[in-house]
Amino acid sequence: MAETIKALVVDDELGIRTSISRILSRLTIVIPDHEAEVNFEVETAETGEEALELLRSAPPEILLLDNKLPGISGIEVLEEIAPLNLDMHTVIITAYASIETAVRATKRGAYDLLPKPFTPAELKGVLEKVTRHLLVSKRAKELAAEKRKVRFQFISVLAHELKAPINAIEGYLRIVKDKSAGDKPEVYDDLMERCLVRTEYMRKMISDLLDLTRIESGERARKIEHCDVVAAAQTAIDTFIPEADKRGIALELHAEAPIEIQADSTELDIVFNNLISNAVKYNRENGRVDIHITRKDNTVTITVEDTGIGMEEDECKRIFDDFVRIKNEKTTRILGSGLGLSTVKKIALIYDGDVSVTSEPGKGSAFTVTLKAT
Ligand SMILES: Nc1ncnc2c1ncn2[C@@H]1O[C@H](COP(=O)(O)OP(=O)(O)OP(=O)(O)O)[C@@H](O)[C@H]1O
Ligand SMILES: [Mg+2]
Repeated sequence: MAETIKALVVDDELGIRTSISRILSRLTIVIPDHEAEVNFEVETAETGEEALELLRSAPPEILLLDNKLPGISGIEVLEEIAPLNLDMHTVIITAYASIETAVRATKRGAYDLLPKPFTPAELKGVLEKVTRHLLVSKRAKELAAEKRKVRFQFISVLAHELKAPINAIEGYLRIVKDKSAGDKPEVYDDLMERCLVRTEYMRKMISDLLDLTRIESGERARKIEHCDVVAAAQTAIDTFIPEADKRGIALELHAEAPIEIQADSTELDIVFNNLISNAVKYNRENGRVDIHITRKDNTVTITVEDTGIGMEEDECKRIFDDFVRIKNEKTTRILGSGLGLSTVKKIALIYDGDVSVTSEPGKGSAFTVTLKAT
């Protein structure tokens, strides 16, 4: 990524100003671990007073500041702008790099000292150090801001999603309390049943959410061991057979056992449980679910194919995000929190893999997860 960093050079000697400007404007610093290529845009000031004006109106990211200036000194400039809390890295240029100057400058937030006279190589060395430091702290800030944003979105969607069932339960309970649905006891049984369904939904949502946050925060202790992917699929299939049987849905596993990889078995269970649960949930009566597992070199490919309701192309793109559920007349009666597939995706990424889907409305869907075997 090419980046331009604004630098301000403050020195009363014209020679120094021009030579630093010339070196800076031709300099490109490459920082491989940040994939960054940095160039500089340079401004100059002759006095501390002039520097203060520029610092207040258009602060640079790097300040190269001579300490010994005709009016106020470099360190006084720093003292003056301290309350502004500028996001800026300062290098003090000083003719006599005394310990006292160094200490005062550092106390005022200077990042480095450049003793005069200096060679172009020394200047470049200092700049490289400052630039690297600047980029690291910039990236850290960007990451923290992004994380805050994601967390905020997550919490607001969660609050929203929990509000709906709570409102529903509250409504049902009021009817029961006020006995406003007449004298037939079955009506009240039905209302209580609906309350239980909604409560069950909230419980599932909270436990999905805990799975997800544990995976994301890395809090859940992972236990990596030899796992047979085919056996994990079979266990998940066994769990869903009762539900599938009720609707005449056939589940079939196509794989040559065993396919062994180094993995956390709970993570494999989460992947299969979610994909198979969806394939059954969003299927039609008497439909099919076919699970294929193959291994080629070090890539394990899992496909879960169903004969269910399918999805439109634009819906397929959204379903791997947190809390996304497709709302239409075919799905209104199906409960879910919209966290299953986003969790599957996060797990696939942990294994250097991915998840994708192909689907046709009314025909069915096929989800493919790849995992890199180690
Ligand atoms: N096999 C499928 N066929 C059709 N639509 C599907 C299928 N799998 C997922 N979807 C759609 O994608 C959405 C997101 O799926 P996801 O598994 O993330 O959440 P969910 O099933 O709604 O809830 P849960 O968190 O309980 O799994 C579903 O709500 C559904 O609309
Ligand atoms: Mg699901």
